[in-house]
Amino acid sequence: MTQKQNKINELLDLENKVILITGALGQVGTALVNTFLDLGSVVIATDISKSGEINLENENHDYFKLDVNNPAEVRKVLDDIFAKYKKIDVLINNAGVNTFKHSRDRTEEDLDFVIGVNLKGTFFCIQSYAAILEENNLKGSVINTASHYGTISPDFRIYTDCDRRNSEIYGATKAGIIQMTKYFAVELADKGVRVNCVSPGGIFNPAQPQGDDFISNYSNRTPLGRMAEVHEIMGAYIYLASDTSTYTTGQNIIVDGGMSAW
Ligand SMILES: NC(=O)c1ccc[n+]([C@@H]2O[C@H](COP(=O)([O-])OP(=O)(O)OC[C@H]3O[C@@H](n4cnc5c(N)ncnc54)[C@H](O)[C@@H]3O)[C@@H](O)[C@H]2O)c1
Repeated sequence: MTQKQNKINELLDLENKVILITGALGQVGTALVNTFLDLGSVVIATDISKSGEINLENENHDYFKLDVNNPAEVRKVLDDIFAKYKKIDVLINNAGVNTFKHSRDRTEEDLDFVIGVNLKGTFFCIQSYAAILEENNLKGSVINTASHYGTISPDFRIYTDCDRRNSEIYGATKAGIIQMTKYFAVELADKGVRVNCVSPGGIFNPAQPQGDDFISNYSNRTPLGRMAEVHEIMGAYIYLASDTSTYTTGQNIIVDGGMSAW
């Protein structure tokens, strides 16, 4: 191995790191599971469904049912994971939901649903993770998932053939996650816990493609001229999970093809 390869391996060494991922059965979650397995990590996938339909040749993974909006379940499942693996190096808060109705039709249930998963769920996971690390005198790293719509508002002119209209409550919870990242980065700094955030832009979904007009409108509205492919979001998570980022905390990395720069 060349000196250069050795250096890269050393900086990005994620082998045998225990990485806990919430919302792991969705589009981004599945990409995270596969990415960290490819890098040699031990991946603990969690999602709200009882059985994780993860069928991979790489056996270095486990699955736990975890509803992030149930604080007792969060604490119990994180305790169980910790008891089994003796460490959780990285917590990736990825579970997230949206509601697409027009704001004039928004109900209190819609608000509670989005706030419950995105904001409270992220909080409950950090709360239990930080407690377990402190009780066991361990360091760790949290990577939250927000969205570029936590920083900018959608341009409603792009929704010409698509009813997946981004909502105000989604953006508000994602803005809350960005702020919560800064809060916990400061609160947990002297415990050796780094807390950062990734804000993806719009990701093309081959399984449920967005409308052709929407894709074209979105692409025209983005400096790089297209939607993201899901693998293009992974670099930010790899950076934040690895020792390349040991002096990075409280930050939000926006991976949106430049949309928020306009
Ligand atoms: N896809 C995008 O274009 C995009 C853009 C910006 C941000 N994001 C964010 O990335 C994250 C992942 O998005 P995605 O596109 O993979 O969505 P997705 O809908 O494909 O996956 C979300 C996952 O979260 C799970 N989930 C829902 N409620 C839960 C709960 N209470 N507890 C545990 N898990 C729960 C779902 O079962 C699902 O597997 C979300 O936080 C989302 O807001 C996505």
